[in-house]
Amino acid sequence: MSDRKILVTSALPYANGPIHLGHLVEYIQTDIWVRFQKQRGNRCYFVCADDTHGTPIMLKADREGITPEALIAQVGKEHLADFTAFGVAFDNYHSTHSEENKIFSELIYTRLREAGHISSRTITQAYDPVKNMFLPDRFIKGDCPKCGATDQYGDGCEVCGATYSPTELKNAVSAISGEKPIEKDSVHYFFNLADFTDMLAAWTQAGHLQAEVRNKLAEWLEGGLQQWDISRDAPYFGFEIPDAPGKYFYVWLDAPIGYMASFKNLCDKQSLNFDEFWTTESNTELYHFIGKDIIYFHALFWPAMLSGANFRTPTAIFAHGFLTVNGEKMSKSRGTFITARTYLDHLNPEYLRYYFAAKLSAGVDDIDLNFDDFSQRVNSDLVGKVVNIASRCSGFINKRFANSLSAECSEPDLFLEFVKANETIADFYEAREFGKAMREIMALADKANQYIDEKKPWLVAKQEGQDALLHDICSVGINLFRLLAVYLKPVIPALATEAERFLNIESQTWPTHHSQPLLNHTVNDFKPLMTRVDADKIAAIVEASKENLEKTVAQTQAPVEKEKLFEPIADVVDFNDFAKLDLRIAKIIKAESIEGSDKLLHLIVDIGDEVRTIFAGIKSAYAPEDLEGKLTLVIANLAPRKMRFGTSEGMVLAAGPGGKDIWILSPDEGAVAGMRVK
Ligand code: MSP
Ligand code: ZN
Repeated sequence: MSDRKILVTSALPYANGPIHLGHLVEYIQTDIWVRFQKQRGNRCYFVCADDTHGTPIMLKADREGITPEALIAQVGKEHLADFTAFGVAFDNYHSTHSEENKIFSELIYTRLREAGHISSRTITQAYDPVKNMFLPDRFIKGDCPKCGATDQYGDGCEVCGATYSPTELKNAVSAISGEKPIEKDSVHYFFNLADFTDMLAAWTQAGHLQAEVRNKLAEWLEGGLQQWDISRDAPYFGFEIPDAPGKYFYVWLDAPIGYMASFKNLCDKQSLNFDEFWTTESNTELYHFIGKDIIYFHALFWPAMLSGANFRTPTAIFAHGFLTVNGEKMSKSRGTFITARTYLDHLNPEYLRYYFAAKLSAGVDDIDLNFDDFSQRVNSDLVGKVVNIASRCSGFINKRFANSLSAECSEPDLFLEFVKANETIADFYEAREFGKAMREIMALADKANQYIDEKKPWLVAKQEGQDALLHDICSVGINLFRLLAVYLKPVIPALATEAERFLNIESQTWPTHHSQPLLNHTVNDFKPLMTRVDADKIAAIVEASKENLEKTVAQTQAPVEKEKLFEPIADVVDFNDFAKLDLRIAKIIKAESIEGSDKLLHLIVDIGDEVRTIFAGIKSAYAPEDLEGKLTLVIANLAPRKMRFGTSEGMVLAAGPGGKDIWILSPDEGAVAGMRVK
């Protein structure tokens, strides 16, 4: 049918924590796309692996008193079990701590070095004199140099939002030993990303990226590309750099190479041709599905590394957005940080697959899992519309016609309409517009139900001498159901397989315009294919996730190395979100300096119906006495924020580049305190 050869990857999950529902957005999205390709007859391989290297994993193993090897073996098993239970069907699941990955990492590094793209120089870094190791920024804690907040990470303050280098932290201590870090020199190796400026400028504009991603990259490229530090000092869990004893590849160097390594491992098992997929002459397709937080690594470093080492570059990078639960970031205390395992303990994984499919598009928008919406969609679409067709028709086919379908299709036009929809639906799947594909399929399901509603087989069944009519109606219904099942198969493969068993047919490939109805065909007894979502089960998941609190805090405490490195792409604000802001003109009643803060002013403001305390970082631009009696703009419904000097009950909106140029005052004499700004 087709001779496309396609290699697909999902990002490699970190081996320092469990798979959660956020991860699953990606693995389910990729799996749906891969299943669709396979169903179309394309040769498609889906590989992944655990991302096993780096400081957090090394320290976690240390805390648990086991070797990193033992830790990653255990976690790797758990990850794969979770994926399998969710129907995510990798052709190969490997590990970055593998022989193949070591070989390819060394090969790529050596080729880059020989081509002159690697340099080295001495840098100074914080060092834990007790643990005898260099400290990544996230492993240093202390007081914020700007606002004085205590217990802040080495790369930025969560209270005032300042970013700084760990050497600026006051009272800095190592988060590992609690000891005061010292400064120490060490030679580091760098990848000269700037050598690839022209290559990347062309590549990022050549149709390999989504529009939003392309624009973001253009910005990054304009800002100029920095050298990328690809080495870490021992002790480090990873691969030692060739000819550099005691120096290890930074985890993000060997992680994407893990895609190649996993595929090589598959090639060895199945005698596939590795080179066909990776040489510069390759005419196969290579796709990486990733989250928007790791675009920088995949759309800049990775193509540069590949091209510098004389391998092919990806056909496309498909980035997706982040999962929120009930409109908010997944939260442990709210019980919405839900692990794959907790979900599996209570609910059918195909509910979630369908729900994600219904919400996914080809863009990078975040997607929200809203529990009410989830139950409603699954119940009304899958149970109420799709499965219902089969259950409405199969009873009569069973009782009155010995499970045999009629010899002719009495509704050829309706059947043909369902067959012809295969093209539109396929186009949507191909373009990763899964939400649109689901809407198309549900519109067909509505049609099938309408047909049954109009023909009223339950009345026909009671009429004398109408057996043939009853037989025809129910056979049409079953034949329409069969097409719905095949269209949904990439999304809900287990249900589709059950449907095939009921229909007594082989595994269905993608329909073509020539697809024919099942005639004179014997089906099997019908068993309910899916039950409604039980609201109690959702409550149980939330409860269980709260119970997990203690466990998961420890698991995720190990900071993830990519965090804070690059800001995720800013989302467009939805109008409804904007409308939630309560913006008010506020009158500044009192303004005072705060002892110990050279940035903040303590403001008392009148917002019309209330007087509020606000701490505002505007001291560099305003003397307190200039502010009293003036009007400004505030957000009145921001959640109160506990800061070192007290609780801030709102936010003053400012404009300007900062320093002396921060403007917060309303020049409009007509404004009145409490006025809503909308
Ligand atoms: N190990 C790196 C990837 C290396 S790829 C060469 C990593 N691991 S991760 O476990 O943090 O994330 C794995 C994938 O899951 C990433 O693509 C990430 O964007 C995605 N997600 C993690 N949390 C997510 C949500 N809450 N929502 C959607 N996707 C999320 O990054
Ligand atoms: Zn601060």
